[in-house]
Amino acid sequence: MQKNMLRRNYYVITITMLLTIVGVYFITSRCNKNNFQGDMPFEQATTLLGELYKDKSGFGIPSEETEIIRSRGGAPTYGEISYKAVDTILNDLFITDEDVLYDLGSGVGKMVLQSYLSFPFKKVVGVELSTKRFAQSVEVKDLLEEKGLMNPKRPILFLQEDFTESDLDDATVVYLGSTCYSLDLMNTLVKKLSKLKKGLWVITLKRLPDPEEYNFTLIKEYRLPMSWSKSSPVHVYELKEQMPNRQSQV
Ligand SMILES: C[S@@+](CC[C@H](N)C(=O)[O-])C[C@H]1O[C@@H](n2cnc3c(N)ncnc32)[C@H](O)[C@@H]1O
Repeated sequence: MQKNMLRRNYYVITITMLLTIVGVYFITSRCNKNNFQGDMPFEQATTLLGELYKDKSGFGIPSEETEIIRSRGGAPTYGEISYKAVDTILNDLFITDEDVLYDLGSGVGKMVLQSYLSFPFKKVVGVELSTKRFAQSVEVKDLLEEKGLMNPKRPILFLQEDFTESDLDDATVVYLGSTCYSLDLMNTLVKKLSKLKKGLWVITLKRLPDPEEYNFTLIKEYRLPMSWSKSSPVHVYELKEQMPNRQSQV
């Protein structure tokens, strides 16, 4: 009788311990997954992005979308910054967990997601007008979430809107894949960006027009690979002083 009791207690204790171990493992693995800090090595991140984007492409959008982008003064032409270029520039900027990235004209979102995976950005945002490109960026973001690689404390946002109208107030790093942006569009952008926080870094493929007039200093120039060229110019500017918001002074 006593032997049976002992055996029963033994089973109860063993099962309780096993359940506790499984529970702790489950909770900690979930916590770790949701705690992703943006420290994925380059090779791992680019291999993952290669898989996630294997059936996606930003090239070729419906003509109605091209017209919408043109009618907003935007440039529908497509091309992508290379993974190597993103890695080189962001490493040189020593990105911290205080930084917030905006890619203005984010296409299918590769630059935004690479930045999220391999750098400790507090928040990353892609702004894109084309419905087809925007939709693909959201699909890949959802796949990352399924893989447990999204930390709610480090949001990824994809917005379908005209970036000349976007709220960029918390930006510390802005990327412009601006090779085909018109002078008018660049003028609009430099004015808008000059009203952001002092210290803002603007990475742009086309030079900013009249940078000194808007308190921007050129801090670095590169020639880096893009989808259309092995060696394309890239300019990095820093905002030395925030320009007053002229509208609010009126
Ligand atoms: C050269 S692609 C860059 C894609 C992405 N940044 C990359 O490097 O992988 C420029 C993108 O800007 C978008 N675009 C152009 N004008 C825009 C505007 N006013 N608002 C939002 N997106 C715009 C285009 O649709 C295009 O997808």
